[in-house]
Amino acid sequence: MRIPFPTLALTILAAAAAIPAAAQAPAPNLEAGRARATTVCAACHGANGVSVADAIPNLAGQKQAYLEAQLRALKSGARKNAVMNAIAAQLAPEDIANVAAFFASLPGAGVASVVVVATLTLPGPRPGPFPSILASIREGFAYAFAEPGLRTVVVYMTVNSLLAAPFIALVSPMALQVLDAGGAGVSVLVTAQGIGAVTMAVSLGGLVRRYTQRRVLAAVLWLLPVALVAYAWAPTLWTSAACIFVVGALYIGALSSFTSSAQTRSPAEIRGRVMSVLNVLLGLLYPIGSIVQGRLADSIGQRVVTAGAAMTMLGVLAVLSVARPGLFRRLETPAARVEISAATAAT
Ligand code: HEC
Repeated sequence: MRIPFPTLALTILAAAAAIPAAAQAPAPNLEAGRARATTVCAACHGANGVSVADAIPNLAGQKQAYLEAQLRALKSGARKNAVMNAIAAQLAPEDIANVAAFFASLPGAGVASVVVVATLTLPGPRPGPFPSILASIREGFAYAFAEPGLRTVVVYMTVNSLLAAPFIALVSPMALQVLDAGGAGVSVLVTAQGIGAVTMAVSLGGLVRRYTQRRVLAAVLWLLPVALVAYAWAPTLWTSAACIFVVGALYIGALSSFTSSAQTRSPAEIRGRVMSVLNVLLGLLYPIGSIVQGRLADSIGQRVVTAGAAMTMLGVLAVLSVARPGLFRRLETPAARVEISAATAAT
């Protein structure tokens, strides 16, 4: 590499000029800076120089000369800020040099947060002996049955997985055999269902805030079978697509309501096992429902089967709401505190 002479000369000159300047300045005391920063400044600017609030600047990795200049301006009152004027007034010139050097020595905000993430201590795995997967699932079920709101979730999740969910497995035969729309028809229906699902997924939070979890879950559960009946009898590919858009939205509404209720109602130490209950229910009942509905569809026709399953779901919902009127309300009561050892010992 050839360095042009003027560049080289300027570099050497600049380096030479820097030596006396560095030699003149008294070396700031980083430890004293750290001590003051952690006792006084950390409350607002953070112990690692990354501030604790939006209105407070980060100081980590900021240029030392800039920090000193700001602190001198804040001390003299040339820069006005009620809080910092009072704080800087307490700092002697060497304190300013020390804290400025200390904050300048810290890694900047981006790096600082990486450091924080890296040093987070997560709770370790439970001390052994480790329960088997089956034992964990049993514990999850025991807990879910012991907490009334979770029991509600399990009941409706069962109904939904067995009777409603199989429409997903039967989308292709609906497009190919019932509507005679070919492979393109399958794509249209799958896409419409997916768009419905995404639409609901992004609006669900707002709906829950506005109407409460219980009302939203009740509404999607009652509307889902109605939409499924419409989907079952839709005469053309495009009416079918419109219906499955609504079905997809309501189905995701139900599923997400189940998972978010289950998450908010179970304490952290058992949450994973409670969530596995929902996965086991869906993973077990959805295929069973699909096989049964698929078999029936071969003999009595898919429209009848899809509509029939949806009507059955409506019937079950109606029976439950008469026989167990308090079921939905439980979702509004605060989660019951279930003694975990008692719940799991029961198994
Ligand atoms: C009670 C909260 C609080 C404490 C404690 C505090 N600061 Fe501040 N600091 C602020 C706020 C708020 C600002 C923003 C001021 C502004 O908007 O002009 C600020 C600004 C600064 C700035 C200017 C930053 C920039 O980007 O211009 C420096 C430097 C600073 N603080 C250093 C310190 C030091 C050193 C300490 C400890 C000796 C300290 N602060 C303690 C709240 C605090």
